[in-house]
Amino acid sequence: MLLDDERAPAATATTGTALRVQAVLDADLPGPRISRHLYGHFAEHLGRCIYGGFWVGEDSPVPHEGGLRLDVVEALRALDIPNLRWPGGCFADTYHWRDGVGPREERPTMVNSHWGDVVEDNSFGTHEFMALCELLGADAYVSANVGSGTVREAAEWIEYLTRADDSPMARLRRSHGREEPWKVPFWGLGNEPWGCGGGMSSGAYAELARQFGTYSLDHGDNHLYRIAAGAADADYRWTEVLMQNLGRYLGAGAVTGHGKNTYQAISFHHYTIVGPTWENKGSATDFDVDEYYRTMAEAARIEQIIAGHAAVMDAYDPRKEVGLVLDEWGTWFDVEPGTNPGFLFQQNTMRDALVAGVHFDAFHRHADRLVMANIAQTVNVLQAMLLTDGENLVLTPSYHVFAMNKGHHDAASLPLAVRGGVPTRRVGDEDLELFSASASTKDGRVLVSLTNLDAERPLEVEVDVRGVSAGTPVGRLLTAGEITDHNTASSTPVHVRDLQDVHLDGGTLRVTLPAHSFATVSFPTA
Ligand code: AHR
Repeated sequence: MLLDDERAPAATATTGTALRVQAVLDADLPGPRISRHLYGHFAEHLGRCIYGGFWVGEDSPVPHEGGLRLDVVEALRALDIPNLRWPGGCFADTYHWRDGVGPREERPTMVNSHWGDVVEDNSFGTHEFMALCELLGADAYVSANVGSGTVREAAEWIEYLTRADDSPMARLRRSHGREEPWKVPFWGLGNEPWGCGGGMSSGAYAELARQFGTYSLDHGDNHLYRIAAGAADADYRWTEVLMQNLGRYLGAGAVTGHGKNTYQAISFHHYTIVGPTWENKGSATDFDVDEYYRTMAEAARIEQIIAGHAAVMDAYDPRKEVGLVLDEWGTWFDVEPGTNPGFLFQQNTMRDALVAGVHFDAFHRHADRLVMANIAQTVNVLQAMLLTDGENLVLTPSYHVFAMNKGHHDAASLPLAVRGGVPTRRVGDEDLELFSASASTKDGRVLVSLTNLDAERPLEVEVDVRGVSAGTPVGRLLTAGEITDHNTASSTPVHVRDLQDVHLDGGTLRVTLPAHSFATVSFPTA
């Protein structure tokens, strides 16, 4: 793994007349807190995410701790990874946790019917996942099996994970070598119940969710944040049915017969898919400028989808006690040629990085309702942060956006508004805005994220910083010569470097963004 400073400067594309945009940043008007959990991750038993990605086993020549790949752990720790969702995805609704505890050589196998129809040997199970979370310093987000599992099975898994006394499941855990219970903050009930998670209607799922929620108990001082499985994309009706039917089971004020809260949040999923058909989603690396802009237009749609779910929730929960969780998001292209279609392995280009930048800006603007998001997925699957190639580890362009945006974790969002319009490009029957930005403040510093979506032209940005006295700005830049550029074990054309074109002039911040680039600028305030 190469560090940024060890690389040659990235090529920048600066052809064409510069575009211009003016914005106003009210740095003295802090808004809702941007939860660090918006930078969450997702690891499914799918392709090479767990096996080969996180887990290499105890006999591997790849450096590991107890079978967990150390270069992956180190790279994710550098992101301050806040949480990790596991074991799926669709896999979660086929997973029976008791198959994945106890001596590895005695664990039964199963068929991973969703992903490649391969035999899963259950060598990575509950103890391995919790050890991974401990190494990462990340909160566990466990998805229970609602589609093909039982209420008892889910209830006993919580007891196994989190109970301290001499209960049957705590005893079983101890017999497998773990004395103390773990902390499990996040507990998901089902995954995509409208599809791979059981093919249910929203009403049928709501009934089942009440049942599972009732027995998803807090043990000792472990307080579960229970997340009901939500909609696909803009299916606002699904969200509405959950808000109506889970009723008193939702939110901070919800009380079950046991005097415990049940659901605290509802999730939804949205992938950036440009088609034209499911069988032909386009190559991750071989695309033209039109396809690039169509991807960006699809990515930008996340703003209206979040707003749509939030509006439904506002009608039932004006005090915003129920969280909205986007626990799967990212690009979904065709798999790399020659790889198993069921393994969803795709490369990651500068285009993916800009998709991430656009998503985070939308997340920050909706921080009052959106409390968590999980990129799909962390290693070797879909819009991955990390790609493993034997003993080598590749940091993808998307990884760098997560790294550059770290300063937004738990910061107060700041209003940033464009003055006089944004340059646009016609994509289909919509105007795609070519500039995206957001800002936050924490510990006496402001952090601004800026994305120039124009494939060919630089963008001159002027930000009128109001309400504070801004100190010397520092900028970081992620770009590459081509929108299709991507990193491999032998070449890393997409990497971070210092942004030279950043100046503070009175109260005005001036930045020049190269074509197709993502940048962050931070400055102290007084
Ligand atoms: O992330 C891949 C799959 O996409 C997940 O298993 C499923 O939830 C979604 O459809």
